[in-house]
Amino acid sequence: MNKQLEQVIQQDIVENTDCREILRKIPKESIDLLVTSPPYWAKRVYNEDEEGELGSEPTPEEFVKVLADYFDIFRPYIKKEGNLFVNIGDTFFGSGAGAWNKYLDEEGNTTSFQKERKEKYFTLKPLQPKLKQDGKLYQNKQLLLIPSRFAIEMQSRGWILRDDIIWRKPNRIPASVKDRFNNTYEHVFHFVQAKKYYFDLDSVKIMGANGKLKNPGDVWDINTQPLRGSHTATFPEALVDICIKCGSPKNGLVFDPFMGTGTSWIVARRLNRRFIGSEINPEFYQFSIKRFLESLSERNKEHGETIPSNTQTHLDI
Ligand SMILES: C[S@@+](CC[C@H](N)C(=O)[O-])C[C@H]1O[C@@H](n2cnc3c(N)ncnc32)[C@H](O)[C@@H]1O
Repeated sequence: MNKQLEQVIQQDIVENTDCREILRKIPKESIDLLVTSPPYWAKRVYNEDEEGELGSEPTPEEFVKVLADYFDIFRPYIKKEGNLFVNIGDTFFGSGAGAWNKYLDEEGNTTSFQKERKEKYFTLKPLQPKLKQDGKLYQNKQLLLIPSRFAIEMQSRGWILRDDIIWRKPNRIPASVKDRFNNTYEHVFHFVQAKKYYFDLDSVKIMGANGKLKNPGDVWDINTQPLRGSHTATFPEALVDICIKCGSPKNGLVFDPFMGTGTSWIVARRLNRRFIGSEINPEFYQFSIKRFLESLSERNKEHGETIPSNTQTHLDI
C-alpha cells in the first residue's frame, strides 16, 4: 500500500481478508458496535475461487448455523455493553436457491451472461435449483423465512434480540410477479449481550406531529442507494447512520466484517468513529477504498480543506 493512502486510512484497519482473520489485530472486548449485512443465502457468488463461501451452504438451515458461527467468533471482541445490528434479506425457494455450483456452463466455463454480470456487479449468480423439493419447506415459491431462522438461532446461542427493525424501501421498483405482493422490506436485527448496554436514543429521535422529538420506531423508510448498478446489495448510508449514532459513542470502534463497498466505513468516519472492516473480494475491497477516498475528498471540499490531489488515484494496493 502506498504511503499516502496509508496515512489517509491509518486510524482505521481495513483489509482484503476473511473477517475471521482480521480480529486478531485488536484486543478482546474492544468493539462498540458491529453493523453489517452478510451475504444472503444462495443469491450471489462473490468469490468464484473460494470453497465454502458464506451463502453457498446446501440448505437454508445450514446457512443460518454457519452464519451464527461467524458471530460466535466475533462475540469475544465486542464489548459487553456493545451493540450488534445485522441486516439480512430472505430467499424464495426455487429462485436459484441451493444452486451453488451451477453458474458455469456444461464445459465448466463462465457463461457470457455471468461475465456481463460480473463486470457490472462484481458478482455471479447461482442459476438453477439443486436442492430437491420435499413437499415441506423445500417447495418452489416458498418464502424461506431465513431472517427469522437466523434470529432464532442467535437467541439459542445467548444473544438478546432487542429489535426486529423493518427497513422499508419506498423506491423499490415493482416486480413482475403476478401471484404475490412485491417485496419491499428487509430486516435489521438489533442484538446485545447484556441487559445494560450503550444506546443513545436521543441522537436518532425524529420530529413528531406535535413538534416534539420522538422515538423513530422500528419501521425505517429508507430508499435503496444503488451503486454501480442496482444489484450490489449496498447499505444505504442513512440506515448505517442510525445504527452508528445510537449504537456507538464518538470515537468508539465500529466493525463491519462484510464491508462490501465500504458504506459503513464512510459513515463511521463521517460520524467520528474508528473503524475496522474486512472484505474478502479484492474488487469490492479496491472499490471501497476508492469510494472512501472520494467521500473524504468531497467532505474536505465542503469544509474548504485541502487534500492531496493525487490521493484518489493511488490505488496500487
Ligand atoms: C451483502 S455484501 C455487503 C455490502 C455492504 N453492506 C455494502 O454497503 O457494500 C456482503 C459482502 O461480504 C463479503 N464476504 C463474504 N464472505 C466474507 C468473509 N468471510 N470475510 C469477509 N468478507 C466476506 C462479500 O464479498 C460481499 O462483498
